Amino acid sequence: MAIRNIRTLGDEILLKESKPVKEITPRIRELIDDMFDTLYEQDGVGLAAVQVGILKQIVVIDIGEDDPIVLINPRIVETSGEQTGSEGCLSVPGKAGIVTRPDFVKVVYMDENMEPQEREGTGLLARAFCHEIDHLSGKLYVDKVEGDLKDVVPREEEEE
Ligand code: NI
Repeated sequence: MAIRNIRTLGDEILLKESKPVKEITPRIRELIDDMFDTLYEQDGVGLAAVQVGILKQIVVIDIGEDDPIVLINPRIVETSGEQTGSEGCLSVPGKAGIVTRPDFVKVVYMDENMEPQEREGTGLLARAFCHEIDHLSGKLYVDKVEGDLKDVVPREEEEE
């Protein structure tokens, strides 16, 4: 278990396509563990493997309400509705912007044992599915922001 270095805006790897995972190896398990460590250390809700420099279709999500979710080779198969709200990304530190996303999303994916799964999400979870799955095809939310990216005051500064 370890914290990995998060790639940030301007790093070209973030614009690349991630490749499907074929089998779960010990290295992939370690990567998933490290992705959760990194996510929690940064207080994020989701992280894609490309953000720690690995071009594999792996996403971890924890919106703090349910069990943590690991998505391997995820694909969005159904969306409906619309939500407009603030979004941020660990690869774009200190910024946030308004993005419109579907309000309901269904994903199919493999779990950590390469068993096929499907899961539905609404609200924040639907937003997280869209945002993280976008990362796997090299897309960043900054290209979908309505209006300007805004500066977000880091929590430590807020407390002073
Ligand atoms: Ni992101």
